[in-house]
Amino acid sequence: MKDRFSVAILAAGQGTRFRSRRAKVLHSAGGRTLIEHVVRAAAELSPSSLFVIVGHQADAVMAQLQESGVQKVKFIQQRKQLGTGHALRSGRGKLLSAAPLLLVICGDTPLLTAATLRKFLAAHRKSRAAATVLTAEMADPSGYGRILRSTDGSVAAIVEQKSASPEQRAIREINSGIYCFQARELFAALARVRLDPIKKEYYLTDVIGLLARRGQHVAAFLASDASEVLGINNRAELAQVDNLLRARKARELMLAGVTIHAPETVRIDPDVAVGADTEIEPGAILRGRARIGRNCRIGAYSVITDSVLDADVTIRACCVITESRIAAGAAVGPFSHLRPGAEIGEGSQIGAFVELKKSRIGRGVHAHHLAYLGDATLGDRVNVGAGTITCNYDGVKKHQTVIGEDVFLGSGTELVAPVRVGRGAYVAAGSTITHNVPADALAVARARQTTKPGWAARRKTKSGKQKAKS
Ligand code: UD1
Ligand code: CA
Repeated sequence: MKDRFSVAILAAGQGTRFRSRRAKVLHSAGGRTLIEHVVRAAAELSPSSLFVIVGHQADAVMAQLQESGVQKVKFIQQRKQLGTGHALRSGRGKLLSAAPLLLVICGDTPLLTAATLRKFLAAHRKSRAAATVLTAEMADPSGYGRILRSTDGSVAAIVEQKSASPEQRAIREINSGIYCFQARELFAALARVRLDPIKKEYYLTDVIGLLARRGQHVAAFLASDASEVLGINNRAELAQVDNLLRARKARELMLAGVTIHAPETVRIDPDVAVGADTEIEPGAILRGRARIGRNCRIGAYSVITDSVLDADVTIRACCVITESRIAAGAAVGPFSHLRPGAEIGEGSQIGAFVELKKSRIGRGVHAHHLAYLGDATLGDRVNVGAGTITCNYDGVKKHQTVIGEDVFLGSGTELVAPVRVGRGAYVAAGSTITHNVPADALAVARARQTTKPGWAARRKTKSGKQKAKS
């Protein structure tokens, strides 16, 4: 029978090289925090227990993981961050009793996949080694611990960059920070790890040399894709990994039938769904749980967050759409702002510089230019003239505006809420509507025009004479 295994993810460090107030593992790449990526990959293996070792900003790290809904994570506190070896020591009791095998993963390697972890675990079980190190050949190994091999090819030790000689620094096989241990052997060796004189930390990597020197077998498992074990230590590396994760998501969508123009420029979060035959233009950003239907078009530089678009929807360039719903065949933009609670009915057209908030728009509505519709309900086929504004806020409370079907709102209409306009009614351009308008009526609410013939001409001659005098 296979030995049971548990997982420990190291996430207690501050991440000094990030120069951030926020703990490193709480920074995001590819639409998820670094720690969440690693926890998800580990959880896919269904370990008997999954521990995350927290310390620096422990509360925030725990809260983020609980919020993200990853299941059954247990936490170990490392009160002082005295190194990766010390981190594991902090969980000695829990980790020893959890399972005979322990898979250790650094919290800053977000590209790691469950598939690689599975292969790694299988290799360890097969080799019967006391420890197996997941290694990789890096074109540029700087910053990583280097793998020292003995003449028979087994792992002799890991030397950290800071302590390595020039010859050792030339070694391109690096330590990924991912290991599989027989838990008892690990803790026996960890007890013997001394403080590193340069960094004043207890290095987990020292365990490898200690085991090897005692004649225990330490194996290496070379990752077939070195980019999977990229560890993130600064924001330049964060950006690099973000690119790789975005590329993975874009590729997945393209293979599922989505056209993406200049895929290297788009940013699509992992939980976003996009239907086949939809086209995404350069620079588009799709966030959170956005669901885009089939055969839509997402315009350049539009940002869509947590919204649902049915089929055949057109979003033109530079729209910001958040927590909204758009029904089939509707078109929005360019430069429209749909704030939370905007619902656009089938075939409706929302144009440039139109802002909506908590508003239900019926079918076939036209609001082509420059309008604000907040806390409003519009029936089918309403025409919203340019410059229409719902005055929904009286300085204290928000009020509703209800517009019936087939209403025509002339340009420059102001609707002082709470107010209703009955179906089929007309509102004359430039009106400020403060009273309900019954169905089929015409409402005109503006000052009458006074025209004074010849006034302007007289004024010009008068001022001409004054100039001549002076
Ligand atoms: C570590 C390895 C290095 C390896 C690299 C892979 C050591 C000594 N070095 O270096 O050989 O090539 O990872 O990316 O292990 N952490 C704690 N508590 C601490 C210190 C760190 O939980 O006291 C956590 C961090 O939050 C982080 C992980 O351990 O997630 C790795 O720490 P980091 O400082 O990034 O180690 P590296 O210098 O990258
Ligand atoms: Ca690291």
